[in-house]
Amino acid sequence: MRMYDIISKKQNNIELTEDEIRWMISEYTAGTIPDYQMSAFAMAVYFNGMTKYETAVLTDAMANSGDTLDLSRYGDRSVDKHSTGGIGDKTTIVVAPVVASLGGIVAKMTGRGLGHTGGTADKLESIPGFNIILSEESFLRQVDEIGIAVTAQSGNLAPADKKLYALRDVTATVESTPLIASSIMSKKLASGAHSIVLDVKVGSGSFNKTPEIAVDLAKTMIEIGTSCGRNVTAVLTDMNLPLGKNIGNSLEVQEAIDVLKGSGPSDLKTVCVELASNMLVLSNKWDIDHAREQVNKAIKSGSALQKFREWITAQGGNAECIDDYSLFPNSSVKYEVRAAKTGYISDMNAEKLGLISVALGAGREKKEDNIDFSAGIVLEKKLGDYVNQNDVIAVLHTSSLDKAVAAAKTLLEITVISGKKTDIPPLIYSVLK
Ligand code: URA
Repeated sequence: MRMYDIISKKQNNIELTEDEIRWMISEYTAGTIPDYQMSAFAMAVYFNGMTKYETAVLTDAMANSGDTLDLSRYGDRSVDKHSTGGIGDKTTIVVAPVVASLGGIVAKMTGRGLGHTGGTADKLESIPGFNIILSEESFLRQVDEIGIAVTAQSGNLAPADKKLYALRDVTATVESTPLIASSIMSKKLASGAHSIVLDVKVGSGSFNKTPEIAVDLAKTMIEIGTSCGRNVTAVLTDMNLPLGKNIGNSLEVQEAIDVLKGSGPSDLKTVCVELASNMLVLSNKWDIDHAREQVNKAIKSGSALQKFREWITAQGGNAECIDDYSLFPNSSVKYEVRAAKTGYISDMNAEKLGLISVALGAGREKKEDNIDFSAGIVLEKKLGDYVNQNDVIAVLHTSSLDKAVAAAKTLLEITVISGKKTDIPPLIYSVLK
């Protein structure tokens, strides 16, 4: 077989065979298919899509491209959660300890930032000392001991997706339903949880710009998961606005801790409660109202925060940062951006905010780039808010004044202030099972 022929078939919209897809994934994982040919393939899929059959085979091939975790010892209590990617989305850092504090087993593999969106692996790494790469043995030992462990995609779990994910990030081929569905579900299948809650984002800051695309992606992932014997729920949540106020790795962890302490922005808390409750419906067989009540109690009583402390400590992190945010990486430049006039913020594109945050240092422009954990944006005002001229709209955190000045200019360009109050979209669109 030749990769050239596979690219050409996809370019001409001819369905690939199972053998072709499996051969391509195994050769790419082994390193015999170079990145430039795989990029051409991803671009052909970006334009021409994949059939359901091709998507299912691609998912299975990537899920089995390396090791797979066996979580069967936890019966049906193991539950995973995955977001399709958004701006300011720090929900995993809240829901994982909440669910674990209520008896769910959270054994989770998580990703790095992708395109304009952040990744939980990078966020957790901003906690001083936190070790995001766990061996299978220490991962499972930690789950046995405290019911929660989160690891970055190791070299051996779905390695084909790890390579392809990093390649798509820098070749403008992320926004493709079959590539997103197979990427997410291959990781979920390889990491073994019995139940999975998918947070499928909708809106300008997500890879799914419209509810139709999001529903299609959710249904594709549910079909793949259930055909492999997993329980899958998809919660469609809004990503026209960033979640919470903070964008950027260590800033987001601090905001997640605020929610675990019972404060924090209400939009973030609402989405976290919905996701955690749906996870507990699957893992603990609770009805949704009971699950919501228990989640709220776990936050109020401090038991979720206590589980977070145990989790951070178990993975080598300095849990003192929970009480002292100055222990987090701190940016040398904090630059205020002020409103040019008085009125309502009627446009502030979330994807562009994500790109500004990447430019400040919070994400990668090339796959080998290092991240500045302290970089990002604190939004003092969001879409729909009323501002007076000269009010602070945002504070930019970065390492150089030049970067801050350039980012401030872009932020003011994308912030439209008008006399008309804009309708804010709902936070939760629907729950699909
Ligand atoms: N999250 C993933 O894991 N993969 C994608 O392709 C997009 C979001």
